[in-house]
Amino acid sequence: MLVFGASSGIGLALLQLAVTKGWRAIGVSRQLRPAALDENIVWRQLTFQSDNLAQLDSALAEICQQYQPQKVFICHGLLQQAQVRVEKSIRQLDVDSAYQSWWVNYLVPMLHIKGIWPYLLQQQCKVLVLSAKVGSIADNQLGGWYSYRAAKAALNMAVKTAAIELRRQQTHTQLVTVHPGTTDTPLAAPFVKNVPLRQLQTANDTAVRLWLVAENLQPHDHGALLNWDGKHLPY
Ligand SMILES: NC(=O)c1ccc[n+]([C@@H]2O[C@H](COP(=O)([O-])OP(=O)(O)OC[C@H]3O[C@@H](n4cnc5c(N)ncnc54)[C@H](OP(=O)(O)O)[C@@H]3O)[C@@H](O)[C@H]2O)c1
Repeated sequence: MLVFGASSGIGLALLQLAVTKGWRAIGVSRQLRPAALDENIVWRQLTFQSDNLAQLDSALAEICQQYQPQKVFICHGLLQQAQVRVEKSIRQLDVDSAYQSWWVNYLVPMLHIKGIWPYLLQQQCKVLVLSAKVGSIADNQLGGWYSYRAAKAALNMAVKTAAIELRRQQTHTQLVTVHPGTTDTPLAAPFVKNVPLRQLQTANDTAVRLWLVAENLQPHDHGALLNWDGKHLPY
């Protein structure tokens, strides 16, 4: 079991859950290995930028070759960070912030799919890309959060497109986007104070739910945007 974007929140909880279940767990992150990490978790620090993507491809190929993961969770995401702020109004749309959101929420996950693509063509594997319900165009009732919504909508489209391409060449691997539900993590922390406690999951609870979604994936789920309970969400 392999987690990309592993150093925080849901990614970290998924790694710990996998170890508890007796799976070999590999975390890949921009960060150094966390000090308190379970010693059974394999950790790979991987730094990449737009100008060294060939290194990303070769590192991911080597990791897949070595560990042959049967489940892959792609957990990158950004709502607010440094100068990046979610927009309440189009008047707040800012080029640098929008590019950063686009990079982390759309391009980084897709570049990881590209990096493991040769492995996906050969092996049977379940790939869950963490997206968000606010990226559903049909479900958008509240507005706001322009860049995050748009980047996640793009991610949903790109994963569906990759799923179609994959199915032409390979019938076993499943690739989906999944909304994890509102989860108490650093990403969500600035926004959860008004969320009723019963709607706010711990990262550990969410990891359990996502694991179940992975276990229960059906052929007709391939390419879909799924909720944390495995139900299909509208794009
Ligand atoms: N928490 C929620 O309520 C919620 C709701 C809906 C959707 N989601 C989605 O669930 C996923 C996991 O979120 P989380 O709540 O676990 O968030 P988190 O604790 O903030 O973790 C997000 C991960 O994104 C990666 N990341 C952050 N900034 C990055 C950057 N500038 N460049 C590259 N990678 C970066 C980090 O990976 P590294 O380890 O490489 O640093 C980090 O581990 C995200 O896709 C998020 O959009 C979360």
